[in-house]
Amino acid sequence: MSFFPLLLLPLIFSTTTVSILLSPAEARGGGQWQLLQKNIGIVAMHMQLLHNDQVIIYDRTDFGLSNISLPNGRCRHDPDEKVVKIDCSAHSLEYDAISNTFRPLFIQTDIWCSSGSVSPNGTLIQTGGYRDGERKVRTFNPCPSCDWEEYSNALVVKRWYSTNQILPDGRQIIIGGRRQFNFEFYPKTGASAKNTYSLPFLVQTYEAEGDAENNLYPFVFLNVDGNLFIFANNRAILLDYNNNKVVKTYPAIPGGDPRSYPSTGSAVLLPLRNLQQKLVEAEVIVCGGAPKGSFQKAKKRDFVGALDTCGRIKITDPNPMWTMEKMPGGRVMSDMVLLPNGYVLLINGAASGTAGWEYGRNPVLNPLLYKPDGVIGARFQIQNPSSIPRMYHSTAILLRDGRILVAGSNPHVGYNFQKVVFPTELRLEAFSPWYLKADFNDLRPEVMFPSPQTKVMCRVNLKVVFRVKAVRKSVAVTLLAPSFNTHSFSMNQRLLVLDEVKPTSRNVAAGGYEIEVKLPSLPFLAPPGFYLLFVVHEEVPSQGVWIQLV
Ligand SMILES: *[C@@H]1O[C@H](CO)[C@@H](O)[C@H](O)[C@H]1NC(C)=O
Ligand SMILES: *[C@@H]1O[C@H](CO)[C@@H](O)[C@H](O)[C@H]1NC(C)=O
Repeated sequence: MSFFPLLLLPLIFSTTTVSILLSPAEARGGGQWQLLQKNIGIVAMHMQLLHNDQVIIYDRTDFGLSNISLPNGRCRHDPDEKVVKIDCSAHSLEYDAISNTFRPLFIQTDIWCSSGSVSPNGTLIQTGGYRDGERKVRTFNPCPSCDWEEYSNALVVKRWYSTNQILPDGRQIIIGGRRQFNFEFYPKTGASAKNTYSLPFLVQTYEAEGDAENNLYPFVFLNVDGNLFIFANNRAILLDYNNNKVVKTYPAIPGGDPRSYPSTGSAVLLPLRNLQQKLVEAEVIVCGGAPKGSFQKAKKRDFVGALDTCGRIKITDPNPMWTMEKMPGGRVMSDMVLLPNGYVLLINGAASGTAGWEYGRNPVLNPLLYKPDGVIGARFQIQNPSSIPRMYHSTAILLRDGRILVAGSNPHVGYNFQKVVFPTELRLEAFSPWYLKADFNDLRPEVMFPSPQTKVMCRVNLKVVFRVKAVRKSVAVTLLAPSFNTHSFSMNQRLLVLDEVKPTSRNVAAGGYEIEVKLPSLPFLAPPGFYLLFVVHEEVPSQGVWIQLV
């Protein structure tokens, strides 16, 4: 039998064109880098895109003076501050992704290594931080003159290195943090508002490596059954947070090496499809990290090579198993960004060492494109490199136009621009995947309906009208939840491929085409809030349109 495929091969080649054998991404090249700003004044340690195309960025208040002043002679007075007691520089800003401008924001207490989610009405709710900021909640309403509002003692316990996830009812859950083996909810509504709920999984995954623990910033995803998938260190559970019950324990990731901070790998929930099916499938992929013991070794200037594997698991499976895949190289502190067309971009980070002060080496300048439904062994494609190392405290988020905003990097205790291996990085860049090349303008759809900021209900059929030179093949409509990115994890990141209920047809009146899709029926699939809607034509996405799922 073994000769049989060989006999068939020439036949296949003679009837198939090369362009079908190569994936479009391979055929189309490795993306482009663009320097957006030479100096935004702060380190972009945390980033969140809001539905007015503004990106909220912040670093920390106990860092010393940043390189951007607060407006109107405003200063932050803090007698407890170690570095500067009167600080007239900003530690947060709002970046306008459309005009490529920014304005400083005022923040009083320390927001360092914190977490957040955008609430369903579009307000960013940030939680926790360090010292005077550890039990604070801060909100940012999107408006041209808005600034942070801070609420004291708004959290029950201190939250530093926690992970947040927006829930189907619009609240957010805040999980873990340094020496916090529990979770709580925000806003604080109802009788249980003052409670924390113990989470033994965080005790089980606590593995002290010197002054760090390998289970911080756990990777959390809202599963399609309403439970939470929580990965920390090298294993995962499925948590029914309503009853505080572990409903499933996943096998440990093969190899057993840690993937959470400070062995910082990254993870995404892969695009959700076939949403009308009774049993929707959900898959998570965890990539990179640092071998066990790397943090302690890095302290002794021994920078161990990062993990070059990804583990992929169908979290909805009755008997879930990890499938391991090899990346073209090791990566630690990389970000994983879902692209509108369902690809995953791995970007930023290093090839050796770990997260933490001065512990990363060998920056990985090339992003990787991962095609989830590609052939195993041929899913990764190396992208063109940046020239800027993005080490510890760097970030990456998707913008509405399909570019990836890349910023940050500071492996030092303060701002440090001289005589260090990786100077504090204040430059802002954008990475444009291949689909933004002008060569694909003919394929690129332009969405005409829904119009921006349209409110749509769960479950309804939505007519999407778009223009494109000619529909050649596949058209898909996707919904993307923008994420809160910090420490190589994108909280709340989620991509839904909507089911087509009426195929693409001409819409003569609009001078284009229309397709009808079904919006997800359960808030488990898509919690309420703002999403970017994209029309994807042969893997080339339109610009996103903000819609609000209510
Ligand atoms: C920012 O850095 C530049 C160059 O080092 C310096 O000239 C400028 O005064 C700094 N600005 C602020 C507001 O710190
Ligand atoms: C949105 O909801 C949050 C949380 O409930 C609240 O703090 C905020 O003020 C609301 N924003 C607006 C603009 O109403």
